[in-house]
Amino acid sequence: MSKLGLSVDEVLTTTRAVRKRLDFDRPVDFSLIRECLELAVQSPTGSAGQFWHFVMVDDPDKRKALGDLYAKAWPIYAEQPFSIYNLHANDPEMKPIAARAADSAAYLGENMGRAPWLMVPVLNGRYEGATADLAAGLYGSILPAVWSFMLAARERALGTCWTTIHLMFEREAADILGIPYEEYTQVALVPIAYTKGTDFKPAPRKDLDLFIHRNGW
Ligand SMILES: Cc1cc2nc3c(=O)[nH]c(=O)nc-3n(C[C@H](O)[C@H](O)[C@H](O)COP(=O)(O)O)c2cc1C
Repeated sequence: MSKLGLSVDEVLTTTRAVRKRLDFDRPVDFSLIRECLELAVQSPTGSAGQFWHFVMVDDPDKRKALGDLYAKAWPIYAEQPFSIYNLHANDPEMKPIAARAADSAAYLGENMGRAPWLMVPVLNGRYEGATADLAAGLYGSILPAVWSFMLAARERALGTCWTTIHLMFEREAADILGIPYEEYTQVALVPIAYTKGTDFKPAPRKDLDLFIHRNGW
C-alpha cells in the first residue's frame, strides 16, 4: 500500500478518532502494522527506559472476546458524569459535537471486535497508587508512542481510535491475551483498519486562547 503523501501538518490535523469509517472487511497486512510500530518506537521514554510492549491481535476469537469486554464496559462508561454523553450537557458549543462523537462511539461499542487488528499497548509494572510524578513519567513513556503509531497509520490510509474503557475489565483482557496481570499494565485498546475514504478534516476545538498561559497561569 502506498502512502497518502500528506504533509506533517496534514497528518497532525486530520488524524481523527475513526469509528464509523473503519473498514472491517478489508484485511491489513502485518507488514504495515510493523512499519507503524517501527516509527512509534522512535518516541521518547523517561530514562530511555522503553518500558513498553504492544500486543497486536488479529486472532478472530481474541478480537471477539476483547470486543465483548469493550461492549460490556460501554453502558457503564455511558452513565459516568465524565462520559461523552454527560460531560458536555451544559456546554452549547460542545453539545452538538459531543452528540456526534457519542453516536460514533456507541457504534464502536458494538463493533470493536470486528476491526482486523486490535492493539493493546502495555507498560512494564503495575502502578496503583503511584505518585503524580511517577505516573506522569510512566504514562508519558508510552502514550507518545501510541500516538505516533496512530499518526503513522493515518499516513498509510489506516484509521485508529484511542480507547480506554475496556480497562474496567483489565484483568479479563489480560487473561484473554495471556498478559501477566501482576507485572504489566494495559493502557489502551486501539482498533486498526483501513478507512472508508481517506479525506479527513481538522476537528472543531475550543478557542485556543482559553488554554494558553504566557509566563504564568
Ligand atoms: C485517553 C483517551 C481515552 C479515550 N477513550 C475512548 C473510548 O474509550 N472510546 C472511544 O470511543 N473514544 C475514546 N477516546 C477518543 C476521544 O473520544 C476522541 O479522541 C475525541 O473525541 C476527539 O476526537 P477527534 O480528534 O476525532 O475530534 C479516547 C481518547 C483519549 C485521548
